[in-house]
Amino acid sequence: MNKKIIVALDGNNFSKLIKLAKNLKNEVYAYKIGYEFFFNFGIDGYKKIKKIFPNIFLDLKLHDIPNTVEQGIKAIDKLKPILTTIHISGGDNMHKFSKKKITNHSKILGVSILTSLDSDQTEKYYNEKNVKNLVKKFVKYAKKNGLDGIVCSPLEIKTVRKAVGKKMIIVVPGIRPANYSNKKDDQKRIITPLKAIKMGADYLVIGRPITSAKNPLKEIKEINNSIK
Ligand code: C5P
Repeated sequence: MNKKIIVALDGNNFSKLIKLAKNLKNEVYAYKIGYEFFFNFGIDGYKKIKKIFPNIFLDLKLHDIPNTVEQGIKAIDKLKPILTTIHISGGDNMHKFSKKKITNHSKILGVSILTSLDSDQTEKYYNEKNVKNLVKKFVKYAKKNGLDGIVCSPLEIKTVRKAVGKKMIIVVPGIRPANYSNKKDDQKRIITPLKAIKMGADYLVIGRPITSAKNPLKEIKEINNSIK
């Protein structure tokens, strides 16, 4: 079976995350390492997870002048993640420079519009109240500039797929299994794993529904079954 779930290893309890990584490795496509993990446990921590399972999505969302991003990606490339991220809003040259020094085949995904921005915020900062139009515009630029894929909200999968075509990878967070109910959860614009795949997502980033479950292995197996 082609694995589609990327488990977000968020948290500051290293031994718990190592245990999770060992426990779930036969069920995942990759593990996502983001700010919290990377800034707490650094490259040593990263390498420990990579030893357990080689597919890592290093989600550091770079955004700086093109030369700085180029050098940052050059350093990231040495760590051999399969996926890593930059902000599309960094501009054409930042996209192009990010691809220059890739030698280890890390794929670069563009983060479209942060899902935390509502239409008032996009109007304020991007002069566009229609978030979908803005996302459409951004992902087209990302495609034109040679990025390998897009990270977007579940609500934008169809729009993005239509705009970028079949080849670009679409990775989507904000996924919640149908039976999931956690009132403390901060994710608002959510959909089920099956719906996300049907709408055109390639990979699903899932954190707490799996990592905070009583039995994470059972939970991820159920999700994998639901999207077979
Ligand atoms: O626990 P949860 O399933 O909400 O985790 C989702 C992961 O995806 C987190 O690591 C979060 O930072 C990330 N993410 C997100 N929404 C975005 C982009 C990334 O939730 N728009």
